[in-house]
Amino acid sequence: MRPDKNELVRMLSITKDDELQELYNQAYEVKKKYVGTKVYFRGIIELSNICTKNCYYCGIRKSNLDFQRYTITMEEALAEAKWCYEQRYGSLVIQAGERIDPDWVDFIEELIRGVKRVSDGKLGITLSLGEQSEDVYRRWFEAGAHRYLLRVETTNPELYKSLHPADHDFEYRKSCLDLLRKTGYQVGTGVMVGLPGQTIEDIAEDILFFYDKDVDMLGMGPYIPHHGTPLGHLEKSFEPDNALKMGLKMIATCRITLKDVNIATTTALQALHPEGREMGLLAGANVLMPNITDTKYREGYQLYEGKPCMDENANQCVGCLSRRIASIGETIGFDEWGDSRHFEARKS
Ligand code: 5AD
Ligand code: SF4
Ligand code: FES
Repeated sequence: MRPDKNELVRMLSITKDDELQELYNQAYEVKKKYVGTKVYFRGIIELSNICTKNCYYCGIRKSNLDFQRYTITMEEALAEAKWCYEQRYGSLVIQAGERIDPDWVDFIEELIRGVKRVSDGKLGITLSLGEQSEDVYRRWFEAGAHRYLLRVETTNPELYKSLHPADHDFEYRKSCLDLLRKTGYQVGTGVMVGLPGQTIEDIAEDILFFYDKDVDMLGMGPYIPHHGTPLGHLEKSFEPDNALKMGLKMIATCRITLKDVNIATTTALQALHPEGREMGLLAGANVLMPNITDTKYREGYQLYEGKPCMDENANQCVGCLSRRIASIGETIGFDEWGDSRHFEARKS
């Protein structure tokens, strides 16, 4: 059933602690019923911080010249993928800034085939590489990727315009979700919450958009100002507690209303609170993306301030994450792809 907008606004407007707890509990019950309490891991490789775009909120936007750009080599990326497979993570996410040039497209295609090779064809592959042509989406799908994340960032066209330069095409971005679905991918999208100028109604509309697009996966997180961006001045008035609450409310509201989709508990939550990602799981999320990028590159991939695990290597994160998940009584879905139940249900 299509969620009721007033009901969405009501849930998203809750501020009292006891009512918030009730909302998270309700979401947790829905999660248990529809997707269970296994957390699926997707090791994330931040392949490159080179980006041709200039989103006003993002720390690695093209015009930010404060840091060095990197691209991980094929060998290093494959070694990380192999490690991920040996750790029995079911899947891998390949994420980078947006590039559409042919060299990049070829590199990714080869990398996807390589990942399949080093993992006996077993590691699931999710891509998060931005807007591409239908042809490119198809090539990467045929090479072996099967899930794709492309956040629309906000569904309010005016707000989108205020956060991006004029040459960023919102309509094309949205249409990419259709191209991805048509190609055969499990499709993920998402938005940031707490964006400057964003209202609760906007966020409710975002959720209705997710429902109408029938998406399989969601990755959402609070907006966190970054000093090296045109919106850097917002740092002064930023309230981490409110941002965290908004992020958790969004997860809970999506779980309650969209039920069987995969929802990620994002690193941005942990940037705001040491237990932010566990809180996300308790508010209804069921997917976690441990960072497996080599520490020497992590500093270069700061989309927002306060990103955690800048000095911890992937091995250290494994122990830390296992403890964190055990502490809330959940288990890890080792060796499983953990595909979206929503996707499975649509197929059958
Ligand atoms: N705060 C939070 N999330 C951000 N992203 C980019 N910049 C920020 C920020 N300052 C998110 C966007 C993008 C994803 C890769 O990171 O939603 O899609
Ligand atoms: Fe590039 Fe994505 Fe950052 Fe925009 S949000 S500048 S597309 S990495
Ligand atoms: Fe990286 Fe805890 S998840 S150290």
